[in-house]
Amino acid sequence: MDQLKRQAAARALDEVRDGMQLGLGTGSTAKHFVELLGERVAAGLKVIGVPTSEATRADAERCGVPLTTLDEIDHLDITVDGADEIDPALNLIKGGGGALLREKIVAAASDRMIVIADDTKWVPTLGRFPLPVEVIPFGLGATRRAIEKAFAECGVSGQMAVRKAKDGHVFVTDGGHWIVDAHLGRIVDPAGLAKALSAIPGVVEHGLFIDLASSAVLAGGEGIRVIERRKPKGDQE
Ligand code: A5P
Repeated sequence: MDQLKRQAAARALDEVRDGMQLGLGTGSTAKHFVELLGERVAAGLKVIGVPTSEATRADAERCGVPLTTLDEIDHLDITVDGADEIDPALNLIKGGGGALLREKIVAAASDRMIVIADDTKWVPTLGRFPLPVEVIPFGLGATRRAIEKAFAECGVSGQMAVRKAKDGHVFVTDGGHWIVDAHLGRIVDPAGLAKALSAIPGVVEHGLFIDLASSAVLAGGEGIRVIERRKPKGDQE
């Protein structure tokens, strides 16, 4: 599986050109991309990256990839990131690693987002992977009730649980927030649910990435498949 992730990362690297400003994703697949990019930088490639998490910042520094911030530059050419699920419209669930907020800010600031994954992430319908919802700890009871209402209005339901770290304490994101993972099974209207969740006070961000991915690079036993977005970005509905 790790080999497939690296193959997908290597294919995305083919899209990188000298002088590009890159968003650097988070997770085990994106980590391969950062490592391979570091090798190219060592060989003379000139790029600059914006990391989507403190973990990726550390990886990029270790690999010698120069970094900047979205305050210092005005756009990114390409963001390369992993995903937890990808559907045929290239809608995504992200946030299994807890970096969804910075990942979404960086993806939205990019001309193109290339999603890299092994092909087990490809699903006909999103929702088997628990949907991460990043929340403010204050007033969590009220926020959870509002989330449940939004789920009901969007025709989904399921258990919600505050994410715990490996040490048993509540998982805290790079932004100092908590994550509620919602086990929904099948999300029939991801775009509608995304809008409803974004409207809830107390919800900082959610893991539905709608209309952000430009292409997906899926590595499987039979090779690499590249799926391009059918409609131009911003023309989902
Ligand atoms: C991080 O918050 C996530 O969005 C990751 O991009 C996603 O979980 C994919 O991670 P892997 O590449 O480790 O499966």
